[in-house]
Amino acid sequence: MASPSRSGVFQQSTDRRMEDFAESISFDRRLYPQDIRGSIAHAQMLHSVGLLNEEENRQIEQVLKQIQDDIQQQTFPWSVELEDIHMHIEQSLIDRLGDVGRKLHTGRSRNDQVSTDLRLWVRDAIDRVDEQLVALQRAFVGRCDADADIILPAYTHLQRAQPVLAAHYWLAYCEKFERDRGRLADCRKRVNQCPLGAAAVAGTSLPIDRQDVARRLGFDSVAANSMDVSSDRDFVLEAAFVMAVIAEHLSTWADEWILWSTVEFGFIRLPQEFCTGSSIMPQKVNPDVLELTRGKTARVVGNLQTLLVLIKALPLAYNRDLQEDKPALFDSFDTVEACLQLAPLVVEGMQWNRSAISERLERGYLDATSLMEYMIRQGIPQRTAHHCVGQLVGMAIERDLRLAELSLDDFQRICPGLDNGVYEVLGVENAVRAYCSYGSSAPQEVEKQIARWKDKLSLITL
Ligand code: ARG
Repeated sequence: MASPSRSGVFQQSTDRRMEDFAESISFDRRLYPQDIRGSIAHAQMLHSVGLLNEEENRQIEQVLKQIQDDIQQQTFPWSVELEDIHMHIEQSLIDRLGDVGRKLHTGRSRNDQVSTDLRLWVRDAIDRVDEQLVALQRAFVGRCDADADIILPAYTHLQRAQPVLAAHYWLAYCEKFERDRGRLADCRKRVNQCPLGAAAVAGTSLPIDRQDVARRLGFDSVAANSMDVSSDRDFVLEAAFVMAVIAEHLSTWADEWILWSTVEFGFIRLPQEFCTGSSIMPQKVNPDVLELTRGKTARVVGNLQTLLVLIKALPLAYNRDLQEDKPALFDSFDTVEACLQLAPLVVEGMQWNRSAISERLERGYLDATSLMEYMIRQGIPQRTAHHCVGQLVGMAIERDLRLAELSLDDFQRICPGLDNGVYEVLGVENAVRAYCSYGSSAPQEVEKQIARWKDKLSLITL
């Protein structure tokens, strides 16, 4: 089967080994719905400007839909000779319609066609990932009420730092994924520009109507420079970057929970449906879902690197190198979508080990900062208070006591002005109650944030 792109200039057919080397059909066939949608819109536009008559347009649309059915029914024949999805669909149209089919490629090239298909694909993929992020945020917010009475040690440098409400912890992740949603929305704006009609590189002398095609395909605007369009893969880079950031966020969460699920930490129990056993050690319950989420992040980060290097140093405009963008881009979305599908289930099924957590809260002087801030409120300069609390912690460590177990005499020996009021800020519950700043783990602030998130998430209709 000769490729429709092989014009009369060729006297030799393509070497079979070249066909194998050059094909992209093995990975771009998934663009068939976008390719067909783009071609139907293109044909309609050609009809509206008089380059196709009504009957030709009708036949093209009808046959393209038949081709779509055949692909879905898996009766469509694939062949590396036809290189890519665009050629497959066009050739099949020609096989079924003859000369009418030969008119479809009027006023366009595969360079603007592939960019159109890919933009339509990325636009849908962005919308799918966005829905998944909302589902994950809902899982986090859903835990806030159930975990209302839980205080956790917050860590910095992986050292116990200060006590926080569990809800504050859940909402921290909501914020991260909300920024990812913002990045997706921003990226989507630049994805959603119509390249079709830029043709190969310079536009066309045919009287096409690019605005018309853009409207039919739901694009917000028409890309303004045909040379730029032919070479532009910024939208691919941006989408791959956003996938990498989402993967990074998932990976940090996964890593934290891998640690928390160890016997050494013992903070959480993971839902067994998402854990696996060891083939040799019968006692093992391994957190594979989290390890794979963390591990797959490597691929998503690697894909971004692949794409950046791919596009570097390409002269304007289209170069065949660009065909290599698809495996990396598809893999980034597939991987992130696979991780996001399971993440909410793991969040919902996780159980706290309350006793292990409260044991850690008791030890580690998580109320030291609370004491220091109390002293500041008593008029002691911050640096002095910081130093004194350090001495008090040292004293408590030596006697294996909690700060609240030191006597008033002990406190006054280090810091003479102190009175019984110190005991009101000691202990993790008191420390949490004492927070008051915006964005802190103060119960009243967290309450407001939970309400804000509930409101926000119930407003989004999926
Ligand atoms: N398979 C090609 C790709 O994915 C389609 C565009 C080919 N354009 C060309 N002038 N050879 O990039």
